[in-house]
Amino acid sequence: MRTVLLLPFATQSLNRVSSLILSLWAWQGVRPGEPPLDVGSIPWLGHALEFGKDAASFLTRMKEKHGDIFTVLVGGRYVTVLLDPHSYDTVVWEPRTKLDFHAYAVFLMERIFDLQLPHYSPSDEKAKMKPTLLHKDLQALTEAMYTNLRTVLLGDATEAGGGWHEMGLLDFSYNFLLRAGYLTLYGVEALPRTRESWAQDRTHSADVFHTFRQLDLLLPKLARGSLSVGDKDRVCRVKGHLWKLLSPARLAARAHRSKWLESYLLYLEEIGVPEDMQARALVLQLWATQGNMGPAAFWLLLFLLKNPEALAAVRGELEQLLSRTEQTVSQMTTLPQKLLDSMPVLDSVLSESLRLTAAPFITREVMVDLAMPMADGREFSLRRGDRLLLFPFLSPQKDPEIYTDPEVFKYNRFLNSDGSEKKDFYKDGKRLKHYSMPWGAGHNQCLGKAYAISSIKQFVFLVLLHFDLELINPDAEIPEFDLSRYGFGLMQPEHDVPVRYRVRP
Ligand code: HEM
Repeated sequence: MRTVLLLPFATQSLNRVSSLILSLWAWQGVRPGEPPLDVGSIPWLGHALEFGKDAASFLTRMKEKHGDIFTVLVGGRYVTVLLDPHSYDTVVWEPRTKLDFHAYAVFLMERIFDLQLPHYSPSDEKAKMKPTLLHKDLQALTEAMYTNLRTVLLGDATEAGGGWHEMGLLDFSYNFLLRAGYLTLYGVEALPRTRESWAQDRTHSADVFHTFRQLDLLLPKLARGSLSVGDKDRVCRVKGHLWKLLSPARLAARAHRSKWLESYLLYLEEIGVPEDMQARALVLQLWATQGNMGPAAFWLLLFLLKNPEALAAVRGELEQLLSRTEQTVSQMTTLPQKLLDSMPVLDSVLSESLRLTAAPFITREVMVDLAMPMADGREFSLRRGDRLLLFPFLSPQKDPEIYTDPEVFKYNRFLNSDGSEKKDFYKDGKRLKHYSMPWGAGHNQCLGKAYAISSIKQFVFLVLLHFDLELINPDAEIPEFDLSRYGFGLMQPEHDVPVRYRVRP
């Protein structure tokens, strides 16, 4: 590990000198074969402030300066950034013994969710949980999700009465998807459902959502360790309430719990996790499984509302599908997978909105000194203890060489002229294996991808068929990304996009 030079410079006037010394030191610190190193001008912190403020702009600037691989100092850590999409495949398929996905997740687990699992093995956990999100368990989740989406969406609307209702579009999408997702994974009040249990599901899931959202809004500060005293009190209160809501004792009374929950609780018991820690683990899982679907659905609906041609194409596709089934939409208690798989226009809209908005950091801990081959034949040395970061949001997702007008939403970008899915995209004249990576790729690709896609599609299906949904200010610009937030560049609630909706007469 390189030693970090701590220089006690306090004044602005010495910054240039410090930068010069650091550059010299940085130059001395690079071994042959390593990527260019940029330690910035602030000792130890390096580029932490710029990175935290707007990672995309910072990394674009670094790419212009150093090319598609470089190492930056960020808060005492050396992070090698790789931005060549042709070279991603090697990284995502490296074994855990060389590039590890979970070390950072464990760190976040402790820092954000106060969770310590002494005999925790990420690979054992993954082996147990993966099957619960596939095949017939996936089908059961998809069916339960449809019922629960109807419970919260249509139930709330019926209770609120006819006529138009107003709310923020992010709040609308996040609220309904998280509540339905929670009921699907963590179980419902009672089976068979009664009018009372149905109402209870809606009230309880709303409590879970509103409490979760308060924590969610403070997560960026919590991860950076920059909470004010008042924020710290809020976080404490909110976490305490969530731990109670998701305590194993409370969950024990719930009906129709998913295989996913049963398997997870069993795993926690097997490794001897006490009940209070189990509740914390269940809060972490609520965030990990539900934190992205609502935001993804928000952007999708927003792009549809801003692009009437796209909205008409999706509506047309859904109406055509329905005309081929024998049931009316209100008679449908599930959406068969075959139907969900026959929506190429909606698939293209989802891919395009994820291309424009999904900005995950794909990070790996470098476990051993490593030679990393690039697709163009170059090879770079990585040092044990450093971190490797891929940021597909910049390339391939926003790369003008791959996508013409990369900032523009084109609903049919992922459609061929014959209506099939378009999968051929090129850079440097070579076809790309990874042309968009909202779900990651390789060994650690999102386990919930299929469930998330079917949930978002079912949500959009129900919203478009049961509701009239309109922007209150149709001419307002699409809101700016808040890139200080990991993931989906979400804005603060006060900048949410106001919409009005009503149940279709
Ligand atoms: C729109 C929704 C979602 C998006 C965009 C998303 C995206 C991602 C990404 C980018 C990764 C990390 C890949 C990496 O670093 O290589 C990931 C991992 C993961 N996701 Fe998702 N995710 C979503 C929903 C879900 C849901 C609903 C579940 C579960 C029900 C889930 C379970 C997981 C798990 C377990 C991992 C870790 C995989 C591992 O340990 O190797 N995700 N997801």
